[in-house]
This record gives sequence, C-alpha cells and structure tokens, in this order.
Amino acid sequence: MRTAVLISGSGSNLQAILDVRANDPHYPAEPVLVVSDRPGVAGLARAHDAGIVTEVVDWSDHPDRSAFTKAICDVLDDHRVELVVLAGFMRILSEEAVRRFPNAILNIHPALLPAFPGAHAVEKALAYGVKTTGVTVHFVDEHVDSGPIIAQEAVPVMAADSVATLHGRIQTIEHRLYPKCVAAAAAGRLRVQGRTVVWNER
Ligand code: GRF
Repeated sequence: MRTAVLISGSGSNLQAILDVRANDPHYPAEPVLVVSDRPGVAGLARAHDAGIVTEVVDWSDHPDRSAFTKAICDVLDDHRVELVVLAGFMRILSEEAVRRFPNAILNIHPALLPAFPGAHAVEKALAYGVKTTGVTVHFVDEHVDSGPIIAQEAVPVMAADSVATLHGRIQTIEHRLYPKCVAAAAAGRLRVQGRTVVWNER
C-alpha cells in the first residue's frame, strides 16, 4: 500500500519503519513519500538516505489550518498515497484530511490515551506522578489524539526518570510497535467497529 510518513523532526519512528521494510521484502506498506511541515529537519535526511521522495509543506506558508491541510492532502493525492502515517508530526490537520483519508491516517502518541493527550505528554505524565505510562497507536479522527485505538503498550516510570530517560524508554517501544501497526493497516487487517479496532488474523 502506497504510504506517506508525515514528520516534523528527528524521524526516529520513520527510520524504524524504513528499517523493518528494508529487511522484509513482503512488508505490506511501501513508503513512497515523506512530508515535513518545516525544512531542514533530520527526518528529511533519513528519507533522502533511503531514497524516498520528500516534500516540505511549510506551515508558515499557509494562512490557516484549513489551507495547510488542503495543501498536505493535495501532495498526498499527487503521489497516489493510500495510507498516511503521522510520526512526530506536530501539526493538527483539519477535518478535511479525515474525510479524504477515512480510517487511513495513523498516529503514535507517547502516553496511554486517553491520559495526557496533546503536546508534552511525557512531561505531563512525569509531572502527574504516574507509575506507568506508555505508547498508543491510533487512527486519526476529527479530534486531537482521540481516534480508535489500534495498539497500546505500557512503560514503567522509574523514580530517577527525567523527561529524556522516560522518553527514551517509550521510544524503544514505539520503534517496535509502530512498524507492526503500519503493516497491519497496510495489509487490511484492521477493522474499525465504532471505537474498537479489531485485528483480523492473517
Ligand atoms: C514520538 O515520541 C511520538 O510518540 C510523538 O513524537 C515523537 C516523535 O519522535 N508523537 P520521532 O520524530 O519519530 O523521533
């Protein structure tokens, strides 16, 4: 399935997907495009190194969220993208994206949703004093971090944790979990029933 990965920064989740794909000729998601909302980020260099086409749709070139979303969707259509993977993409897309790609946009969030939605989830979990946080992969709906949940994994919070050490532990899980979820979506193994995502066996 022709897949685009949308990034804003380092792109370590993008790299995890590219690495799994590089080692598995049967991986069902074919990364054909990486889109960033700003130029010069490390994730774009990772895409170049892997020979993947990149596009920058600069947030600051657009008057509002709706115009930005339309520009992103047009780029996705230009590249005949069927599956959209948000990987550290720090912009909220407007409803038009969900309408144009229904149950075909995935996001990864560094907390156990519905706890700590939005930005700075790792900081918020640490500040709250939770003993367990984690990773959530979900479909994107018209609200922020609220769509049907594809997979979750718990991550313990240690007494000595800083934001950096906790985020590092979370990212180790992300890099294993996200490529699996992307593959399942691309293989048509995920069925959405209301809020519930059902995993079909192969
Ligand atoms: C990840 O922790 C992800 O959960 C959050 O943003 C971070 C992106 O990291 N949405 P990277 O750019 O993939 O390294």
